[in-house]
Amino acid sequence: MTSALDVVRTTDAEAATWWRQAVVYQIYPRSFADSNGDGLGDLPGITTRVPHLAALGVDAVWLSPFYPSALADGGYDVDDYRDVDPRIGTLEQFDDLVAALHAHGIRVVVDIVPNHSSNRHRWFTDALAAGPGSPERARYVFRRGQGPDGELPPTDWTAMFGGPAWEPVGDGDWYLHLFAPEQPDWNWDHPEVREDFHTTLRFWSDRGVDGFRIDVAHALAKDLSEPLPSQADLRAPDVLDGMHRFEDRDEVHEIYRGWRAVFDEYDPPRTAVAEAWVPAHRRARYASPEGLGQAFNFDLLLADPDAAQFRRTIEDNLALAHESGASSTWVLSNHDVVRHATRYALPAGTDLPAWLMSGGTDPAPDLERGRRLARAATALVLALPGSTYLYQGEELGLPEVAELDAADLQDPTWQRSQGTEKGRDGCRVPLPWTAHGASLGFGDGPAHLPQPAWFAEYAVSRQEEDPTSTLALYRRALAARRRLQTGEQLEWADDVPAGVVRFRRPGGWTSMTNFGPAAVPLPAGRVVLSSGTHTDDELATLTQLPGETTVWLETTTA
Ligand code: GLC
Repeated sequence: MTSALDVVRTTDAEAATWWRQAVVYQIYPRSFADSNGDGLGDLPGITTRVPHLAALGVDAVWLSPFYPSALADGGYDVDDYRDVDPRIGTLEQFDDLVAALHAHGIRVVVDIVPNHSSNRHRWFTDALAAGPGSPERARYVFRRGQGPDGELPPTDWTAMFGGPAWEPVGDGDWYLHLFAPEQPDWNWDHPEVREDFHTTLRFWSDRGVDGFRIDVAHALAKDLSEPLPSQADLRAPDVLDGMHRFEDRDEVHEIYRGWRAVFDEYDPPRTAVAEAWVPAHRRARYASPEGLGQAFNFDLLLADPDAAQFRRTIEDNLALAHESGASSTWVLSNHDVVRHATRYALPAGTDLPAWLMSGGTDPAPDLERGRRLARAATALVLALPGSTYLYQGEELGLPEVAELDAADLQDPTWQRSQGTEKGRDGCRVPLPWTAHGASLGFGDGPAHLPQPAWFAEYAVSRQEEDPTSTLALYRRALAARRRLQTGEQLEWADDVPAGVVRFRRPGGWTSMTNFGPAAVPLPAGRVVLSSGTHTDDELATLTQLPGETTVWLETTTA
């Protein structure tokens, strides 16, 4: 594990490129650790759990939004970009958290939500008060409604969480919200909006933040010139690259060039990673060194645990990373998707929203298989060049909570879909730290999203006692990666049995995954990691790679 001193001692070049092969751990702050027993995770709670992060061996932490928010969308509805939600902490407590993480050599990445604010942001309440045609309304996207009194929406566009994308404000004006009505979209043509985000980036950089995760990075630039197209024309499959009215327009990169100038005011330069839902061939622009520097690759969120799909995804993304000059990113789980231990427990092609609606019963998950495959896939991605983004709880092998009652659901998807889609709460249930207690060590009171009784089996305290636990595997894998990871090259081995993915990394290090059910012969080499539950003695004599397992081998001949 590095210490703060190691970080201080790194060369300028290393300090500037720390992100290229970093393991970044995503924290969803309101569900991580609750220090005051109010049911909501908070910043002091995270600070008390820094030893967990240090023992895990992550390089950085990404904090999902912790800003003041009514939580209409889990904090992605931001009231004030330069403050902490008083229910979960203060700016001083934020500084304490950064200091505690930095003292362990762990960098800090915060979430920036630039496509929309919340409807409680001062500039939005000013806009409502100021009335139609006012300069205050020009910072957002207001349009007159159709019909004699503006009683009809400007277009038939629908929002991401369902329902219309326009909300009336009672005076004939409507505002655009690509997400929930509580998330009005900013007008990025407005210089004050641009300047205000520079102020926000400097505000957090000055407090020691090392990097930023940029929410919905592809949607900021919008062409809203009249006439506005209908939903059908907007989404027509033949909308050309860069020609959609608000998705992935070329002008968005001008915004990020401005941000890059702000990042480069700092030493080392601040980093960023784009959440850009764009076709793969358009991703490189977001990841370019003149832009945000890195972009998420979400392909593995959609891939089955299948050798051919993994290999193709890896090849494509390494090529894309090469094109942009960035390193690739690997993501198996995050706060928006069904956890990968559960995805892999279900038959390929399962309709996940329908499965959630069945309360997680139809089809029945094979959790043991899901666990094996999730461990194997994690060990595989941790052996790849580039950065790996881990989501809180995956180090415990946590499955999705599919049995949340309707009354407990918080995701706006549930309301906006009229109760036909449950949404993303099942991966946001607070972590089990201990096997007992009001909320299994999360806090002294009940958790804001109830934990099922079976969460106790996955408690950190239990897994710390068990050398075969998923937590033990993550710790071993991260430690081995730190020791083995050098250059970013990867060389495929093609003489492998069906269902196997095997590649070599610089320094005589090989990763081999058997996605199939039956064991296959192992090549020569010393097994230094297994995603299975082998003991050290068993590893020393292993000649076969069991099904649904990854091993890392050290070989002298690279
Ligand atoms: C991103 C976030 C998601 C949020 C949405 C709107 O996709 O990851 O959680 O709901 O943006 O801000």
